[in-house]
Amino acid sequence: MSNAFKDDVLAGKVVFIAGASSGINLGIARHFAKAGARLALVSRDPERIAAAAASINDAGGSAIGMAADVRDYAAVEAALARTRNELGPIDIVISGAAGNFVAPALGMSANGFKTVVDIDLIGTFNVFRACFAFLNAPGASLIAITAPQAVNAMMFQAHVCAAKAGINMLVKCLAMEWGPAGVRVNAISPGPIAGTEGMARLAPTPEMEARFKARLALRDYGDKDDIANTALFLSTDNARYITGTIVDCDGGSKLGDASADALHPPKAPGKAA
Ligand code: NAP
Ligand code: COA
Repeated sequence: MSNAFKDDVLAGKVVFIAGASSGINLGIARHFAKAGARLALVSRDPERIAAAAASINDAGGSAIGMAADVRDYAAVEAALARTRNELGPIDIVISGAAGNFVAPALGMSANGFKTVVDIDLIGTFNVFRACFAFLNAPGASLIAITAPQAVNAMMFQAHVCAAKAGINMLVKCLAMEWGPAGVRVNAISPGPIAGTEGMARLAPTPEMEARFKARLALRDYGDKDDIANTALFLSTDNARYITGTIVDCDGGSKLGDASADALHPPKAPGKAA
């Protein structure tokens, strides 16, 4: 696993990650364990989160796994309290639990829309609001996992676009309110990341995957380490003056469609048509 930082950069740090049983957030957990952090991992499914923690412990890291639904404030608070009691005050919190499905607004019930907003946006409020009392502050770093849908409207993603846009603004408001206490609050906006449930839902066929890549400036999916390295940077003193920021790690997703299909292509690279 590549790591631009020295291996023990998070030694002694206590890290709480919501939505850590798979994908990008488990990738962050594995990376942080390698950097010496002690981890508390949360997701809904007790078996999936226990397996995630076990995989980190088997690899020589340190993790406890707890089942909690981020929509349930009391359950989130209990998991945070257990983290503080067993591991100590919490230095780093990652809020990455999310739900997604592809559906037009007219094919989505009110409860379908609400479900995604509840997991992504209300869940992030719950995690951040509840964690404050358990933080090792000043010096704590909070990171939400948002998405390009927060600023790029996308067909059949009304629920995710609304939820992630809310997360971006929540991060900025909390950064203002909690900066005086020495708590930094940022978000990472990943682009399409290979081997994740998110992309399996958004681009389930090789043809759709190719179309996604063709529209990106960097022409390829990112990988979980790209996001983990960004999270690691935001979690150290290297980022001590960064708060209220949405960090794009997205291959240029927010630049717009870089495929130029709709335009007359230049005759040679760099020449106008
Ligand atoms: P994933 O593997 O499905 O991860 C989602 C995690 O959230 C799982 O651990 C899931 O575990 C947990 N979860 C879902 N609902 C929950 C709830 N109500 N309470 C607690 N935990 C819950 O998906 P992923 O693709 O890696 O996405 C991870 C994050 O990156 C998300 O915030 C997503 O929006 C963001 N993102 C992903 C991409 C991408 O390319 N994949 C791009 C941009 C942003 P349980 O089922 O056990 O609860
Ligand atoms: N199209 C339209 N509506 C859908 C849908 C789809 N593909 N999938 C679910 N819904 C609706 C359901 O019909 C239900 O609405 P209803 O009560 O009016 O019928 C509502 O969404 C909630 O569904 P439910 O299955 O009860 O929710 P849940 O809380 O058990 O699961 C989901 C949440 C739906 C987001 C589920 O896909 C999930 O658990 N996702 C986590 C993993 C994930 O999405 N990873 C990618 C992260 S980017």
